[in-house]
Amino acid sequence: MCPEKSEPMNPQVKSKARVAEHGEVFTAEREVNAMLDLVKLQTERIDSLFLEPACGTGNFLVPILQRKLDVVKKRYGGVRRRADFEFWSVIAVMSVYGVELLEDNAAECRSRLYDTWNTQYSANNKKEATEACRAVVRYVLERNILCGDALSLLDSRGQPLVFSHWGAHLAGRRIKRTDWTLAELLNPPAVTPDPGPQLERAAPAETQLSLFGTPEPADTADDSEGRRVAEFKVVHYLEIIAPEEA
Ligand SMILES: C[S@@+](CC[C@H](N)C(=O)[O-])C[C@H]1O[C@@H](n2cnc3c(N)ncnc32)[C@H](O)[C@@H]1O
Repeated sequence: MCPEKSEPMNPQVKSKARVAEHGEVFTAEREVNAMLDLVKLQTERIDSLFLEPACGTGNFLVPILQRKLDVVKKRYGGVRRRADFEFWSVIAVMSVYGVELLEDNAAECRSRLYDTWNTQYSANNKKEATEACRAVVRYVLERNILCGDALSLLDSRGQPLVFSHWGAHLAGRRIKRTDWTLAELLNPPAVTPDPGPQLERAAPAETQLSLFGTPEPADTADDSEGRRVAEFKVVHYLEIIAPEEA
């Protein structure tokens, strides 16, 4: 007798209709890990930024966060370093971004990322996270995993998708939040360098895609490119909810 086939933990297809309407076929774990291994060093940097423009329920973002949390555990594991573990685990959550067309998928993605963080937190610290810290993680995930269209760069109300950059100030474990529209992040104004009269053929410039520019310090906040939507006061990482504009 054949053993009964068990359902995979994250099935690749929810329904035929969703495949037809939205191309919703999730990537299997083995392929995800093989692809993430191609950028292994980045997945193991706690603060390296990842954006998935059609993130589904998080089949890429969840293992990315898990890899980062494994590094947090290696560096700051054990109950004696609880405070460091907590701060860096929140920084890891702040570094993963996604856009997803369907609200149920976006919600599931946030929920899986939250559970990944929460499970690792409890296992490492031998106690549950405080409600204040949990609320911060939920708040970050609400801002980082957006429901919208990655082609039009608009949300379901037709408003531009806006992402927050969470800049870490290590002294005092503080965070500077700066908001940017995704449209401007993806299409920064072109800079055409003057090659000078003596150059016949300029070598192609090496380009490095960067999710966010390097935000200027608060006292030189003028954004001449008009890309910045808002910037907020630097606050302790547990105080990022209900921020005050700078
Ligand atoms: C092929 S699935 C892949 C999901 C995930 N990247 C993975 O590998 O498991 C494509 C996902 O993209 C979403 N999607 C389709 N068009 C989109 C768009 N224009 N903007 C954002 N998400 C979109 C679908 O809802 C679906 O969840």
